[in-house]
Amino acid sequence: MTDSFKQKRAAAAERLGVPAESIPRHIAIIMDGNGRWAQQRGLPRFHGHSKGGQIVEKIALYCVDIGVEALTLYSFSMQNWKRPAEEIEFLMGLYSMYLEGIRETLMKNDVRLVHLGREKPLPDKVIETMHGTVDLTKNNKGMALGLALNYGARTELIDAAREIAEEYKAGKLDIDDIDESCFDRHLYTAGLPDPDLLIRTSGEMRISNFLLWQLSYAEFYVTETFWPDFNPDSLDEAILAYAKRARRFGDVNSKSAQQ
Ligand code: IPE
Ligand code: IPE
Ligand code: MG
Repeated sequence: MTDSFKQKRAAAAERLGVPAESIPRHIAIIMDGNGRWAQQRGLPRFHGHSKGGQIVEKIALYCVDIGVEALTLYSFSMQNWKRPAEEIEFLMGLYSMYLEGIRETLMKNDVRLVHLGREKPLPDKVIETMHGTVDLTKNNKGMALGLALNYGARTELIDAAREIAEEYKAGKLDIDDIDESCFDRHLYTAGLPDPDLLIRTSGEMRISNFLLWQLSYAEFYVTETFWPDFNPDSLDEAILAYAKRARRFGDVNSKSAQQ
């Protein structure tokens, strides 16, 4: 971890009154509740998606400020293709708009965009803008922003298994080389630490096919707040809850939320 991360984490920890180790290195968020947020106001669902989109940049910048090394956001699951065509079309428009619009902010803040998910059948415009932003930011050394877009954890594991099988077939690895670190290297999240903290907004207590492998030992935090109402104070609350957790990783000794 570089000094810049360490300084930011120390400052955030002091402000929150927790040890610096209690700032998660990797936060994953299931950004849920856009539709309900809109319905509660008698508005069509897409209003919730628009408002939710505005929150993403705020939370990402806040995570940069507090020295989080990786933030992974669940934006669209492979199962979300079941939704009405108009909603999908609206969401795809939002993604391409934001993927382009966020470039300056990412560069200014040294953030690297990583795509988690399959490209097909995303619309060409989304794939193009995503490639553009991923390429532009690939050498940035600050926070990694993982965007799970057309993502499914089971599919991610299948893709990893296929790549590993190809490498075996080509004689590039042995059966004995297939271990946890080999799988890690073949996931969309290769190179990122596992999430320490998983946040789900809007009260649902389920994973919905998100990061099944990587979340093995993540701390789970659910808030009733709908994603469009989530803000840096809500994130502070999640971190304070995380700081109180005893992470044991199967051991008998309880540790506070530390790596
Ligand atoms: C999350 O909000 C956004 C996406 C899945 C794209 P939802 O659209 O799932 O909102 P609810 O769960 O219906 O309220
Ligand atoms: C999970 O939310 C996917 C995203 C937030 C992108 P869903 O709204 O799709 O999950 P379910 O259907 O409630 O499980
Ligand atoms: Mg939902």
